[in-house]
Amino acid sequence: MSNKQTPDNKAYSDFHLQYIAGEWTTGQDDSVNTDINPYTGDTIVEIQQATDKQLDEAYKAAKDAQKQWAQKLPAERAGLLYKVIEILDQRQDEIVEWLIKESGSTRIKANVELATARAMTLEAATFPNRVHGEIRPSNTPGKENFVYREPIGVIAVISPWNFPFHLTQRSIAPAIALGNAVVLKPASDTPVTGGLLLAKIFEEAGLPKGLLNVVVGAGSEIGDAIVTHDTPSLVSFTGSTPVGKHIGELAHSGDYIKQLALELGGNNPFVVLKDADIDNAVKAAVFGKFLHQGQICIAINRIIVEDAVYDDFVERFHAHVKTLKFGDPSSEDTAIGPIVNEKHLKSLKDKIAKAQEEGATMLLSGEIEGQVVPPHIFTEVTANMELFRNEIFGPLVGIVRARDEKEALELANDTEYGLSSSVFTTNMEKGLRFARGIRAGMTHINDITVNDESNAPFGGEKNSGIGRFNGEWVLEEMTRTHWVSYQHKPRDYAF
Ligand code: TAP
Repeated sequence: MSNKQTPDNKAYSDFHLQYIAGEWTTGQDDSVNTDINPYTGDTIVEIQQATDKQLDEAYKAAKDAQKQWAQKLPAERAGLLYKVIEILDQRQDEIVEWLIKESGSTRIKANVELATARAMTLEAATFPNRVHGEIRPSNTPGKENFVYREPIGVIAVISPWNFPFHLTQRSIAPAIALGNAVVLKPASDTPVTGGLLLAKIFEEAGLPKGLLNVVVGAGSEIGDAIVTHDTPSLVSFTGSTPVGKHIGELAHSGDYIKQLALELGGNNPFVVLKDADIDNAVKAAVFGKFLHQGQICIAINRIIVEDAVYDDFVERFHAHVKTLKFGDPSSEDTAIGPIVNEKHLKSLKDKIAKAQEEGATMLLSGEIEGQVVPPHIFTEVTANMELFRNEIFGPLVGIVRARDEKEALELANDTEYGLSSSVFTTNMEKGLRFARGIRAGMTHINDITVNDESNAPFGGEKNSGIGRFNGEWVLEEMTRTHWVSYQHKPRDYAF
């Protein structure tokens, strides 16, 4: 890829500062966030964290800026988003390098992430001219019903570290396009790619001061204050189910009830039925499982294979996975890079030990070096094992044998989660029937569980969350509906 930066378009710097009220400012808290490269272990930047007082300033600035911004003509708001796209294109190499060094993304994943964020920005740029109200008939003589769709106000965004750039942008781009302001808290592992880098881009694009604020602080320290503050009308959270549940409780327990968009964990089944094209299914399973080391909420978590083709699938899957290159994420052909941090590394080591203890067969393993975990395959995994029950979020996979199609569907649904899912079959009728039998927000027939299109509804049910991203679904979520009626002639009241 060519470096599209021009000499007067220098790489962004000063990532040790917070972005509050349109100013780059030092965090006032005593604690420091040390941003670490998960592959080399080097410190990238140290960020003095934000205090509750700074959070309050961010909310105040957002509230003030939003009032002006909502009055801007649609073309002006759309124009800002188109400018952001131009900058994404000019700075693509810089963004990709940041994703590699800060989040341990492989080069392949970093490019996928940037493309997905770009597509969402392009979609959001259409929102200012797409959002519209309605005129509804009335059964009251002389009345006219108008339905207005207005900006919701200030939106609190809390984002995770795994696809930090995209998962932040998919909230802030539509929010801003629709006339809202944002206070964002990125994950502590990715304060730059999940927040500060986007603030630089929006600032360069001409964003009015205060409309987007990035406060860097530990979720355990300032998380509750972000959610319970009086100002935000909507909390858009992407992260784990336990933290999502906590946020849900907080959002409904304070002085003001907040609307919620929660994108949480998954336990996504990938089902191979006996009439599937096994070669296709194997290629998909490998990519859908190991992209970003399996650290994706919609990554394949369980592979369920019908008994008739189980042995054949396992053999070909094993042969393919053995060829994957793991290690330095910046190498062009590395498929599996490092795990994000030591805490997650430890949880994966525990999962490997537990799978063996519970009696799964370890078909493939390898030495863990630094934070790089080689791919691990477990076969004869059953529904009572941890690998089946819980989200793995790493390059380990369990393969489950299903007696027949009916049992495969029961196994697929045997989970508290309902995010993404896949089924492989060459029979379209059967595929659609099976897909519609799965309790999940998303099911892909003959493709991986990892799909995100800016115009298709993205989200989950059960413990995977509430609400949908992308297209008109996020447009609705980030606006409020206001019914206004006009009584043209006096009514006859009963008394
Ligand atoms: P979490 O620990 O839930 O962290 C996500 C975000 O929440 C981070 O910004 C974190 O800040 C913040 N946070 C932590 N405690 C908080 C609190 N008490 N109040 C408010 N915010 C708080 O998740 P993670 O470990 O980063 O990400 C992995 C999980 O996220 C997986 O379960 C995965 O499935 C899920 N995930 C889901 C999706 C979708 S689309 N459904 C996408 C990505 C990830 P700190 O970093 O400062 O702790």
